[in-house]
Amino acid sequence: MKVTVVGAGNVGATCADVIARNDFVHEVILLDIKQGIAEGKSLDIWQTSPINMFNTRVKGVTNDYAATKNSDVVVITSGLPRKPGMSRDDLISTNAGIVKSVTEQVMQYSPDTIIIVVSNPLDVMTYCAYLTAKIDPSRVFGMAGILDTARYKAFLAEALNCSPKDIQAVLMGGHGDTMVPLPRYTTVAGIPVTDLISTEKLNPIIERTKKGGGELVNLMGTSAWYAPGAAAAQMVEAIIKDEKRIYPCCAWLQGEYGLKDIYLGVPVKLGTKGIEEIITLNLNDAEMALLTDSAKAVKEVMGVLDNMKLIA
Ligand code: NAI
Ligand code: 2OP
Repeated sequence: MKVTVVGAGNVGATCADVIARNDFVHEVILLDIKQGIAEGKSLDIWQTSPINMFNTRVKGVTNDYAATKNSDVVVITSGLPRKPGMSRDDLISTNAGIVKSVTEQVMQYSPDTIIIVVSNPLDVMTYCAYLTAKIDPSRVFGMAGILDTARYKAFLAEALNCSPKDIQAVLMGGHGDTMVPLPRYTTVAGIPVTDLISTEKLNPIIERTKKGGGELVNLMGTSAWYAPGAAAAQMVEAIIKDEKRIYPCCAWLQGEYGLKDIYLGVPVKLGTKGIEEIITLNLNDAEMALLTDSAKAVKEVMGVLDNMKLIA
């Protein structure tokens, strides 16, 4: 099994490191446009193999797509990250050009691959890769929900002084301030979270989750990478090992939740075929209204991409 990670920056290199460490593929190719960066980071990761005890070969290349030939999964992390004061949507024109050109080259060498998009603005860059790749949407989807849910769970674990391992939660919608954490679908060791925490304490956690990416941008001057890289690697693992895990992912909706022709975060089942099922929850009116608002925000930015007429 072979995985390619495009973009050897903060998120891409972390993703390659986690995949290698977890030792479930034979080979990881890390590709970047900047001379030497992917080669250097791959060599560094490979030199952790005797310490972290893994066999996965990690190889770095500078823009050499022939080396990515016949990848089972490709993770696209190439593109600009946010700086303080920028929204994810501010990145659209630069990153759309990058995601389009990367996807074309990926497809030339790995026509049967599954593509996981990480570049921002996430929902729209996933749409961009889908339009470019022209393959079934079960093979083109985005990473955001696992990250956003992880932030929600981490904040909850802190507030409840419990193990993050015991928290299960569903978070839906776009990867932006309109995302929809769902308390009704949040449990701690099977106990509804609403039995354990008051609304007054839960609401600020939900708000902090929605702005979780921005909190880190303000602290570091660039966006996060440990949790994003690990989240993308978790999706890769579910696919390669055909785990049938249910994760929130950015998926192409064709009528689910009353939404059509849109990439949006929803719970899906991941296996060797990519998205093998989109799970439809029985949302109540208030939850559905929040999801619809989030979809509206994503559609607007999808419209910006359409108007750029970048993809024939
Ligand atoms: P970074 O700046 O550390 O790395 C980006 C890398 O992409 C650079 O090494 C750059 O040389 C490379 N690159 C640029 N154009 C390329 C091309 N045409 N081909 C190959 N490589 C190319 O940025 P970082 O922090 O790794 O973030 C990457 C992207 O992921 C950003 O768009 C960021 O906003 C997004 N992101 C998305 C998250 C999500 O939840 N979906 C979470 C965190 C970041
Ligand atoms: C994040 O949520 C900025 O999308 C990036 O960390």
